[in-house]
Amino acid sequence: METVNLGLIGGGTVGGGVIRALRRNGTLMTSRLGVALNLRKVAVRDVKKHRDLALPRGVLTDDWSEAVNDPSVHVVVELCGGTTVARDMVLTALKLGKPVVTANKALLSAHGPELFQTAARHGANLYYEASVAGGIPIIKVLRESLVGNRIVSLHGIVNGTCNYILTRMKLEGIEFSEALAEAQRLGYAEAEPSLDVDGHDAAHKTGILASLAHGFWVNPRAIHTEGIRRISRLDIQFAAQLGYTIKLLGVIKTIDGGPGKRRKEARENAPRIQVAVYPALIPNGHVLASVNYAFNAISVRGDVVGDTLLYGRGAGADATASSVLSDLADAALDLKHGSVERVPCFVAHAAQSRVMPIEEVTSRYYLRLAVIDKPGVFARISSLLARAGIGISSIIQPEGHVGDTVPVILMIHDAPNAAMQKALRQIARLGVVRDEPVLIRVEPFE
Ligand code: NAP
Ligand code: HSE
Repeated sequence: METVNLGLIGGGTVGGGVIRALRRNGTLMTSRLGVALNLRKVAVRDVKKHRDLALPRGVLTDDWSEAVNDPSVHVVVELCGGTTVARDMVLTALKLGKPVVTANKALLSAHGPELFQTAARHGANLYYEASVAGGIPIIKVLRESLVGNRIVSLHGIVNGTCNYILTRMKLEGIEFSEALAEAQRLGYAEAEPSLDVDGHDAAHKTGILASLAHGFWVNPRAIHTEGIRRISRLDIQFAAQLGYTIKLLGVIKTIDGGPGKRRKEARENAPRIQVAVYPALIPNGHVLASVNYAFNAISVRGDVVGDTLLYGRGAGADATASSVLSDLADAALDLKHGSVERVPCFVAHAAQSRVMPIEEVTSRYYLRLAVIDKPGVFARISSLLARAGIGISSIIQPEGHVGDTVPVILMIHDAPNAAMQKALRQIARLGVVRDEPVLIRVEPFE
């Protein structure tokens, strides 16, 4: 029986989950793969910290280079996070020709091209199933299972922390800060929680998915990113009254175009792709509206398959460990069969594609204003929108609000983001409008 030795860096939430999962199902994996997986080294920052890992003597170290450079280590697993030392760890391993497994979406987002080029140059695969949506096997699905499809659209709830916060605010009416503290306690949140709540973690994941779906590396700077800090309980309640649920979505859409035959034609016809992360109102009848707490879900529409949906736990030790184990199996089989051939991530036909700036994208909107309650207010707001060519589908002034200002909700027809932002700035300057307007996109899923 062949044995594949693992050098694991990180013994925290995910690393601990992987160690426990290997203990639980290592024998099962051996029987399925014909290869035994053996933890040779586990590197952590502080070896004195109490942890319930029951590792054999000599395995735990505080020197990550042991987990990478030890000649008996065949596969390196990076589960420590960050984008600086983690980059060194992964590059060092790949340059030694060792397959690497990582859950680190921030690292991939920041250094993806360099890491994938290094992997290709040194004939070692870089696996990253756990980097997007925890336990959901979306990477393999996009890369392998849907290889016969053009991806028309992808909508993903890919940040467990934000989904947990929005769910608890909606179902239990608790405050944002309380829900965030609980997500941190449960091990869902990143070490730096602004990565979650400001949408950056979802943008890292959405960029990885967009790159796979469209075959070209999507520059993270091209991804329009909004988080959930400005979502209030009031908006969650109004959205519910209108038949919607607010979710933080990663959105990837092919806007138009297709591959032409000649070079110039190909450039002109190359698809424009929308890649963005923002909170959105989802109709309650859509399945994504029912995805609650730390669960993630990704709905993918392919031109051959039609609509598909993947659902599961998007964060936490066990769910994420499951994806790491899947990558370990692939890495072990690479070594067993002496082959690194996989469906390539990036393909020539897509090189001309580009990410569409958000200003050019057309969306529907929910707009909440706090206005002084006096005659003529609606007329002034709607005339500004009309002048910008923006149509209102409904105006609601919820009853029962007293005070200096009252809330007004406008549901707005499809409008280019640039035109909407310009009109919004004009509306915000009206003397009758108090507080900053709240604008949230509506995803109709047509
Ligand atoms: P974590 O609980 O903070 O664990 C990080 C581990 O890395 C700790 O064991 C830490 O050691 C170790 N470490 C940090 N710097 C090190 C260094 N220089 N050398 C050696 N060890 C070092 O983090 P996590 O939640 O497991 O997340 C790990 C990675 O998985 C991140 O990239 C994260 O984005 C990703 N991820 C997390 C989840 C999740 O649900 N948590 C889900 C999917 C992906 P000490 O224990 O001694 O501090
Ligand atoms: N912080 C991330 C989340 C962990 O909440 O989704 C999983 O990637």
